[in-house]
Amino acid sequence: MKTIETPFTRMLNIQYPIIGAPMFLVSNVDMVTEISEAGGIGTFPALNYRPIENYDAAIKEMKSRTQKPIGVNIIVNKSNTRAQDDVRIALKHGVELFITSLGSPKEVIIEAHKNGAKVICDVVNLEHAKKVQDLGADGVIAVSTGAGGHAGPISPIVLIDWLQKKLSIPVIAAGGVADGATMASMLTLGAAAVSIGTRFIACKEATIEQAYKDAVVRSTPEDIVMTTRVSGTPASVINTDYVKKIGLDLPWYLKVLKDKKLTKKYVVPLIHYLGSKSLEQAATAPSWKTVWSAGQSVGLIEDILSCREIMEKLVSEYEACLEKAPRLK
Ligand SMILES: Cc1cc2nc3c(=O)[nH]c(=O)nc-3n(C[C@H](O)[C@H](O)[C@H](O)COP(=O)(O)O)c2cc1C
Repeated sequence: MKTIETPFTRMLNIQYPIIGAPMFLVSNVDMVTEISEAGGIGTFPALNYRPIENYDAAIKEMKSRTQKPIGVNIIVNKSNTRAQDDVRIALKHGVELFITSLGSPKEVIIEAHKNGAKVICDVVNLEHAKKVQDLGADGVIAVSTGAGGHAGPISPIVLIDWLQKKLSIPVIAAGGVADGATMASMLTLGAAAVSIGTRFIACKEATIEQAYKDAVVRSTPEDIVMTTRVSGTPASVINTDYVKKIGLDLPWYLKVLKDKKLTKKYVVPLIHYLGSKSLEQAATAPSWKTVWSAGQSVGLIEDILSCREIMEKLVSEYEACLEKAPRLK
């Protein structure tokens, strides 16, 4: 069996350094198990399964369908009251990898390590990366500009090279990777793996609206805009007519209330709730309120394939790309 070996594949004993990134409303049991079975590691946000009994059942099913490692994404900010239980349930089923985002991963790292699981943490800069390294994280996911979801502000080329030179733990590249060439660019910069979201929106296994998948295939990088309307922090979405109509910024009264000490703790969860409701509406049923989350790599996606086909294409393009690279003769 051929492998692309890196510190990340050795850490989890997997074939390829490819993470099927967690995607709110998109990642599901089929995608996670297919990506892991195809040699990468499939992951999903715990909150894709509500109530918590459905989450328990989803992991149980994944674990019955693949012996290979899978990962769970835990949002570690205060508004996620399920975090502790989500970690406990995942560990009960033997989940091998946690991806933390948006807050301090301390508790997740402690619990995971007690049970032999690994934790990698989303970061967008060196300061946060050093903090999670000091807390004992097993790696960082460096989320660059152009990524789907909450993209960072720094170019992937600079971010990956910078972090991998300054840290002693593996750096995983997230943002803009959707084919063999982008994957090769990140691995040659020193990334230990790539974490790919947007490419997997256009997969056969995703149970989202067909119009959402078609929009990913049709869109160009110039169609991606950053909006604060979804969660209060900038997130990448496709600039649909509906997004154009509602604008990219929160209404002034929510902005004022969000920044006031007294109202902040009520308004921030409200913005999250309203934003995730509108994403859910657009992703899972026909709607004219099309708020579709995706990153700039939409420009590299031309077809809807199965997860296995996407994985095979990434690996074969990656190889071809390295062979084509100009060398000193
Ligand atoms: C539709 C969508 C939903 C996402 N949801 C989450 C999420 O729930 N948690 C998270 O940590 N990251 C989330 N992300 C970010 C991805 O995990 C990953 O970092 C990103 O997609 C990588 O960039 P790419 O889209 O350019 O491949 C999401 C991304 C997309 C496109």
